[in-house]
Parts: sequence; structure tokens; C-alpha cells
Amino acid sequence: MASFGSATKVIYFLAIILSSLTNSSISESTDPTPTPTPWPPQFHSIMIYNTSGTLQINSLWYDYPKGRNFNIIQRQLGEHVYDLEWNNGTSFIYTLDANKKCQTLKFDVGILTPNFLHGAHYLGQRTMDGFLCNVWEKVDFIWYYEDVVTKRPVHWTFYNGMEGHLMTFEVGAVLEDAKWQAPVYCFESGEQTDDSSQLNSVVDNSGPAEDLFKRKMLIQRLKEL
Ligand SMILES: *[C@@H]1O[C@H](CO)[C@@H](O)[C@H](O)[C@H]1NC(C)=O
Ligand SMILES: *[C@@H]1O[C@H](CO)[C@@H](O)[C@H](O)[C@H]1NC(C)=O
Repeated sequence: MASFGSATKVIYFLAIILSSLTNSSISESTDPTPTPTPWPPQFHSIMIYNTSGTLQINSLWYDYPKGRNFNIIQRQLGEHVYDLEWNNGTSFIYTLDANKKCQTLKFDVGILTPNFLHGAHYLGQRTMDGFLCNVWEKVDFIWYYEDVVTKRPVHWTFYNGMEGHLMTFEVGAVLEDAKWQAPVYCFESGEQTDDSSQLNSVVDNSGPAEDLFKRKMLIQRLKEL
């Protein structure tokens, strides 16, 4: 009985040692550099953008399965602008007011993929907008802040100082198809821009087209990696 008891003790000790070894290897393997959570295929986010003190609210509809991305922009005490991007490279920037403005832009790239941050450079943890975040940087173009606990994006900054604060993040929210229809005056003869050299002149004046151009430059650079 006594020998049986000591054998039990040996096994017990072995079990403790093994479990502590296992625990330490587990804590090592859960400790590697954090990677950004891929975007959900579809979401809606209300964002506040501050670009060097110029404010706007963006209602962002990301819809990867349907190959489209929509920024509905309210510039502070200014225009309501619609920035509709398709994965085939065509983007429409328009107003729905009496001015009936529309620019059709053609890019070589479509919309961001859900894992566009893959391979981003981890910068550690910082508090942003009151949330403790993991922070990554990619191609000196975007700084991306993700809530450590919920893994939701909190904030991103583009290299040009354009800072977006996410106020809502509704995973799976989809804007109805009818809302993705550019107005008829986008398809009437008018200003059409077919390559990025022309685009440069179109976006010399700041505004949504310039923001769009910068996002497309980001996508282009991400694709070159
Ligand atoms: C916007 O950003 C500027 C710095 O570029 C800052 O001085 C200003 O306080 C910000 N405005 C808001 C409302 O956050
Ligand atoms: C891209 O898709 C949109 C939406 O279907 C369409 O309006 C546009 O003409 C397309 N562009 C090209 C170059 O096919």
C-alpha cells in the first residue's frame, strides 16, 4: 500500500512538472507578435475624419463579396458627397443635390481586401481615443489601431495626416442594392478620367477625389508587395 502510495506521488509530481512544461510552452505560443484581425467581408462604420483640422463624417459600407465600397461623406457644414467604388476599378464621386456633380474615375485597382493589413509592421500598444490598442503600420501609408480586447478597429491614420475615428462598427451590415446605383448624370457625357496621370490634375483641388486617390495609391502599393 505504501509503495503504491509513493508511486502515486511520483506520478502526481510528474503530472505537475508536465503540466507546468505544457503551460509554459502554451504561454510562449500565445505570445507572438499580434497580427491585425482581417476585416469582416461586410460591415458598416460611421467614422469621423479629421484631416489637418477639416472634419467630415463618413458612413462607410464595405461589401467585399459584392466587390464594392461606399463612403457617404458629410463635410462639416458643407456638401454631402457620395464616393462609390467598384472592384473593377471604376469609382463614382457625386452629389445628389441640384448641382448634379459627378466624377467618374478609373483605377487599375479595386477595393481593399479583408486581409489588406497582412504583413503589417507591429508597433506595440498605445491608447487611442480612450481604447488600449494594438498598432500596426503598413508601407508608411497607414497606421492602424485595433482594440486589444474586442479586436475591432478604433482608428486609422493615413500618411497625409487624414485621421479616421470609428464611432460604430456593425459587422455584417449591408446597404441595400438600390442605394449602390450612381445617378444617371454619371453616365451622361461629361468629364471622364481614364488614367491616373489625368487623375492627378482632377484631384489637385482637395476633396473626396483626393482622398479616394490616396486610398487607391494605398491599395496599389499594397498589391505591389
Ligand atoms: C483635428 O486635428 C488637429 C490636428 O491636425 C487638431 O489640432 C484638432 O484638435 C483636431 N480636431 C478635432 C475635432 O479632433
Ligand atoms: C464597373 O462596375 C460598375 C457597377 O456595375 C459599372 O457601373 C461600371 O461601368 C463598371 N466599369 C467597367 C469599366 O466595366
